[in-house]
Amino acid sequence: MAFSQGTAITYYIFLVLFVSTGHVAGGCYKAIVSFGDSLTDTGNLIRMSKSSNAYVMSAVLPYGETFFHHPTGRYSDGRLIIDFMALSMGLPFVEPYFGGKTTGDRSFAKGVNFAVAGATAMDISFFTERGITNRCTNASLGTELEWFKQMMSSFCDTPSRCKQYLGSSIVLMGEIGGNDYNYAFLQGYPKEKIVSFVPKIIAIIASAVNELIEHGAQTIIVPGNFPIGCSASYLTHFMTANTSEYDPKTGCLNWLNDFSEYHNRLLQNELDRLREQYPDTTIIYADYYNAAMRLYNSPSKYGFKNTVVACCGGGGPYNYDGLVDCGSASSTVCDNPSSYISWDGSHLTEAAYKWIADGLLKGPYTTPQINGECIFRSPKTKLSDS
Ligand SMILES: *[C@@H]1O[C@H](CO)[C@@H](O)[C@H](O)[C@H]1NC(C)=O
Ligand SMILES: *[C@@H]1O[C@H](CO)[C@@H](O)[C@H](O)[C@H]1NC(C)=O
Repeated sequence: MAFSQGTAITYYIFLVLFVSTGHVAGGCYKAIVSFGDSLTDTGNLIRMSKSSNAYVMSAVLPYGETFFHHPTGRYSDGRLIIDFMALSMGLPFVEPYFGGKTTGDRSFAKGVNFAVAGATAMDISFFTERGITNRCTNASLGTELEWFKQMMSSFCDTPSRCKQYLGSSIVLMGEIGGNDYNYAFLQGYPKEKIVSFVPKIIAIIASAVNELIEHGAQTIIVPGNFPIGCSASYLTHFMTANTSEYDPKTGCLNWLNDFSEYHNRLLQNELDRLREQYPDTTIIYADYYNAAMRLYNSPSKYGFKNTVVACCGGGGPYNYDGLVDCGSASSTVCDNPSSYISWDGSHLTEAAYKWIADGLLKGPYTTPQINGECIFRSPKTKLSDS
């Protein structure tokens, strides 16, 4: 892509104005509004479970041991990608939508998180119809969008104030969809049929992005999927004696990583389409896949001694056992989570999330590029040409 001199100059002037108005010092965004699953949940599922007495895996130590020193509902030993994003943008940790007082007087001015651990992109009925179960929650992306609309109607009383709130926020749409695949794959649903879920899941994510833009969102980050072939849960479930199924460098299962890349390719195509439809909205793809692969490919460079083996789990070659959760009596936890990429076999350690957030915030794993706490609007050229 040749970006014309005129565009370059405009862009340069824009940057100068941007910096000199002090906009950066005051923070580029007033709030983070997020959706997703356990990669992003900062406390919704754990608070929802208090009324239903449902079992929540992350409600006990060692979840939270590294940073918060107590369980917060986060599925890690410490902070998540969203926490590092908030920190870098000068914002507080993003407040879960659930819990505490009524929505009107809670501190959503600086952010609100609708992500629920276990949530799927598709509605629960999609899975029950196919005999696939979600033992964690009935919440889906559709549920989260309903909550979002409820919250907006009480938190910002007029449409123009809502538009202003959302327009000055970063919207984090996901990661979502990972669980749709996790439940299906790990419950033995046939691969060919799971492949046919992908366009449906992409369509649901795109429709959520569409809806948020219609509500006034101007800056939206849409993450792709992690490399599931490197996940201890998948490596355990799909263990094989055929060594050519593994990537010799990382020990990850190639066909599962290919599946994640397929999802990510379709997602990016859809984001290109949305960018054409909404040229004034900044739609950012966050490449979780490659930001994570960087760690599996060069672990020692990032301080990791263990890549695919989980720090906390029920034993076995990957320290993962679907029947023995991290935190249960017969599980074990490693002494130094910061030397592990995998926390509990399905989620990553704070150390891994920190490097991934770093790769997103400082580059090169977002399109267009995030620069520090701000996202520079892309020059008005088609991103897919670059
Ligand atoms: C999901 O919904 C079904 C039917 O309403 C209910 O029986 C079940 O307990 C719910 N599960 C969770 C985890 O909320
Ligand atoms: C082993 O895996 C490779 C790569 O997926 C495949 O081409 C080959 O047919 C497999 N071999 C056996 C004996 O199943």
